[in-house]
Amino acid sequence: MEKTLVLIKPDATQRGLASAILSRLEKLGLKMVAIKMLHLDKQLARQHYAVHKDKPFFSSLVDCISSAPIVAAVFEGYKAVERAREVMGATDPAKAEAGTIRSDFGVDIEHNSVHGSDSTETAEIEIRLFFTENEIFSS
Ligand code: RTP
Ligand code: MG
Repeated sequence: MEKTLVLIKPDATQRGLASAILSRLEKLGLKMVAIKMLHLDKQLARQHYAVHKDKPFFSSLVDCISSAPIVAAVFEGYKAVERAREVMGATDPAKAEAGTIRSDFGVDIEHNSVHGSDSTETAEIEIRLFFTENEIFSS
């Protein structure tokens, strides 16, 4: 079954939005198969966002995601990657469709409340960064 990694970013955990965001993903029919709260160190933050290492916003992005605890979760289901990103909305909350998580909860492009894997291949790599095999309760 397809899996995706969801991160609830510091801006959202700090504003008490974690359960509301998890609930929106569950309402899609996606099944939560792993979850933990953790405070990312800079090294794991850089690893997770390695694809952006040459972008001008990289160091600010790393600072942001490691500024306070996050919630990491794995969701499983039909087209989980695509459907989770759909409900998250566009990267910039100002451009995200009404009713999406980023439109409703995001503050700005950096404080956009959630991360979702962008392909099944990336999902596998990202899930392995955050969870061991025995922490995933996949059916
Ligand atoms: P994510 O990886 O967090 O799910 O977001 P995404 O796929 O929608 O966007 P991506 O291009 O992968 O960017 C990763 C995160 O970097 C921040 N960002 N800042 N200042 C900027 O121009 C800028 N562009 C992207 C965002 O927080 C985005 O989620
Ligand atoms: Mg991305």
